[in-house]
Amino acid sequence: MKKKAISGIKPTGTLHLGNYFGAMKQFVDLQEKFDLSIFVADLHALISIHDAEEIRKNTINIVRAYIAAGIDPEKVTIFKQSDIPEVTELCWIFNCLTTMPQLMLAHAYKDAQTKKKEINVGLFDYPILMAADILIHNAEFVPVGKDQVQHVEIAREIARKFNKEFKNLFTEPQEHIVKAVETVPGLDGQKMSKSYNNIIPLFGSTEEISKAVMRIPTDSAAISEPKDINGTLFAIHTLFITPEEKANLVEKYQYGNIGYKDAKEACIASIEAYIGPMRDKYNSITDKEVVDVLIAGKEKVRKQIEFQMKEVRSATGLTI
Ligand code: ADP
Ligand code: TRP
Repeated sequence: MKKKAISGIKPTGTLHLGNYFGAMKQFVDLQEKFDLSIFVADLHALISIHDAEEIRKNTINIVRAYIAAGIDPEKVTIFKQSDIPEVTELCWIFNCLTTMPQLMLAHAYKDAQTKKKEINVGLFDYPILMAADILIHNAEFVPVGKDQVQHVEIAREIARKFNKEFKNLFTEPQEHIVKAVETVPGLDGQKMSKSYNNIIPLFGSTEEISKAVMRIPTDSAAISEPKDINGTLFAIHTLFITPEEKANLVEKYQYGNIGYKDAKEACIASIEAYIGPMRDKYNSITDKEVVDVLIAGKEKVRKQIEFQMKEVRSATGLTI
């Protein structure tokens, strides 16, 4: 029996290289090894987007991206979060097991508070809904980037609490992280994130990708001087090349007569070679194909969670 793994991405904006290397590429690489389900976290997106068309469009685009990246819908259950409303039921049960101080330590909440943003109850409750997403499947692994580790930890705490208070029904999940890409840097060297305006769009046009790469700040070393192999440009370029190519690039940076402009052009060429075919596939996937995948995914996933929810309702006294 393969071990169960689950993950999701929120349909909240343009997918970027951080999402691809931190999360999506892992899904592709793990689809043989694990019994993998992946979803579009549309309920989570409602926290920040109150525009039906935008949520719909983003949801469809995430499914297209999953398929274009190489996820096989025959092997992986692809679904949207809102197609199992039981996660909100489970979220409520978990709400009643979690304290306000526990949630006040969560990054998303603290971050919003520091930035003096309006904090809706959904944002505050975000980690519990995510715990429900994971625990409803009794998943052992959660492939994500480093920024999600705290959320998986909260899911473990909730599983422990439920198991202690009611019945031993939930597996404690572990995050599954690829160390080398746990935090992909953005153009400014901070974590690449939609919220920081520092992204390289995953399916951007050649011009958009070039423009973004040209924005990466570099030092003022002259052509004859060594270039920085600890900077953002080098880090982003190496995501797209083999170890041998990386060794060559190090040599060029350290000894060659390469200027940063040429280094950026080489980086753009490597991104294009990698992303180009994926982008063609992305653009060729129709809405109808996406809808079919989601219908099939919904059917599969509803069967997968049925038993666990029956057990939960019985253990909590919600069935007579
Ligand atoms: P964003 O920070 O742009 O809002 P999300 O929170 O929607 O991204 O992240 C979706 C998935 O992509 C998560 O698994 C997250 O850990 C991963 N991810 C996002 N940004 C990065 C990054 N810069 N490096 C590695 N993984 C990332
Ligand atoms: N919080 C994740 C993000 O920001 C999305 C997400 C929601 C998720 N539920 C999940 C990821 C369950 C893994 C497992 O990207």
